[in-house]
Amino acid sequence: MSKEHATLTIEDKIYKLPIVRGTEGDKAIDIRKLRTETGYITLDSGYMNTGSCRSDITFLDGEKGILNYRGYPIEDLAEKCSFVEVAYLILIGELPTREQLNDFRALLSRFALIHEDLIHFFDHFPPQASPMSILSTMVNTLNNFYPEMSGDSDEDLMIISARLLSKIRTLAAFSYKKSVGHPLVYPRYDLSYCGNFLNMMFDKPVRPYVVHPEVVATLNKLLILHADHEQNCSTSTVRLVGSAGVNLYTSISAGISALWGPLHGGANSAVIEMLEGIRADNNDFEKYIQKAKDPNDRFRLSGFGHRVYKTFDPRATIIKRACTKTLEALQVEDPLLEIAMKLEDIVRHDDYFISRDLYPNVDFYSGIIYRAMGIPTDMFTVMFAMGRLPGWIAHWSEMMQDTDDRRIGRPRQVYEGPVQRDFVPLHERS
Ligand code: SDX
Repeated sequence: MSKEHATLTIEDKIYKLPIVRGTEGDKAIDIRKLRTETGYITLDSGYMNTGSCRSDITFLDGEKGILNYRGYPIEDLAEKCSFVEVAYLILIGELPTREQLNDFRALLSRFALIHEDLIHFFDHFPPQASPMSILSTMVNTLNNFYPEMSGDSDEDLMIISARLLSKIRTLAAFSYKKSVGHPLVYPRYDLSYCGNFLNMMFDKPVRPYVVHPEVVATLNKLLILHADHEQNCSTSTVRLVGSAGVNLYTSISAGISALWGPLHGGANSAVIEMLEGIRADNNDFEKYIQKAKDPNDRFRLSGFGHRVYKTFDPRATIIKRACTKTLEALQVEDPLLEIAMKLEDIVRHDDYFISRDLYPNVDFYSGIIYRAMGIPTDMFTVMFAMGRLPGWIAHWSEMMQDTDDRRIGRPRQVYEGPVQRDFVPLHERS
C-alpha cells in the first residue's frame, strides 16, 4: 500500500485517505474507512466515479482509446488470435501454449452437447420469446444439470468455464433453430468454436452450410472485441450477484439479463432498428438528430456515446473496418451501412455531439456484420453475451478468489423520505 494520501476537511477536522495507484497509472482514493472515521458516505449515482474493486483482467483508458486484456492490446489480439485463445488468456491470465490451447479446445469439444432434457425446455417458450430471455433462463438452469463444480480450484474453473463457453454456443444456436422451426443441428468435433456455431445455426438437411473462412475470421474478431470491458453494467452485475455466494451459472444468468438493456448490449439490435427507421423515413437524418438533441425526448442515437470512452471506442474502429471487408467478401450490399456511415459523419461534425464526446461505440457497426452473416436482429445481443462470457467468468472467479477483500456487495444510500412519525390506526385514517 503506498504512503500517498488525500486530505479531507469536514467540520474543521482533517482526515487522511490513502491513495491507490494502478499499474497503468490509474489512481483512486481509498474510502473503505470513510464512514467509520467521519460518519459520512459518498454519493455517486451510476457509479460514475466509483471503483468497485481491484482487477488484473482488463485495462481501458477512455481518454486515449486504449483497451488491453491482461496487458495485451486488443488490436493485436483481434488481428492475431482466435476467440478461444483470447478466452483462455482472459480466464487464466496468460496466452496459451500450443499444448494448452489444444487441451482447452478438447474441453470445449467435450462439453459442446447439452443434456437432452434441456432441449425440451425450448418447446415451452412462446414463439415470440426473446432469445436473451431464453439464454438467461437456460444458462441459469445449467446449475440444475451440472451442480458439482464450485469453480474454486483452477482445475474446477477450467472445467466449469469450458463447459459454459461451449454450451452457450449450442444453447444460442438451438434457440434460433427452434424459433424458425428447423431441425436442430448438433455440434461437430471437426469444426472450430466459431465454425461450429455457424454450422449449428445455418446448416440444413436440404442445403448443407458451407463454413466461409472470412465469416469465421470476422466472428472470431467480433467475439474477441466483446470478450471483456472491466466493470461495465453486466460484469458488475455478475460480481454483485456472485458476491452473495451464488454459483457461476446463476451469476452469469444475471449478467445476461443486465446486458439485454438497450443502453447496454441491447444497443446493437437497437442500432439496426434506428437505421431501418431512418431508411423508412426516406433518410430523414435531421429528424433523428433533432430527437436525440431534444432534452424532452428520451430518444438517444443507439450505438453512440460511452460512459468511459470520451474520444473513440477502439473496438468500433476495428469493427467498422471489418464491416466493409466482410460485406465485400460476402458480396453483400446493405443500404444500412451507407446510412450508418452518413449518420456517423453527421454526428462527428455536430457540436452538440462533439461537446458531449459522443462517438460510435462497439454496438454501432457490429449489427451490420451480423446481418451479413444471416444472424437475426433479435440474436445480436446473444452474440454479445457469447463474446462477453470469458470476461464475466474471469471477473466472477477473481471476485470469488479475492481472499483479503471479498465481501458481499452492499452500497449505502442517502435517505430523503419522511422523518420518523407516529403510527395512524386504520380507523383514524381519512
Ligand atoms: C455498451 O460500460 C461499458 O463498458 C459498456 C460496453 C461494454 O463493452 O460492456 O461498452 C457496451 O453498453 C456500449 C453502450 C451501448 N449503448 C448505447 O449505444 C445506447 C446509447 N448511448 C447512451 O444512452 C449513453 O451514451 C450511454 C448509456 C452509453 C452512456 O451514458 P452516460 O455515461 O450515463 O452518459 P449520459 O447519459 O449522462 O450522457 C451525457 C450527455 C447527456 O446530455 P446532457 O444531459 O449533458 O445535455 O450526452 C447525451 C446525454 O443526453 N448523450 C446522448 C447519447 N449518449 C449520451 N445524446 C444522444 N445520443 C446518445 N447516444
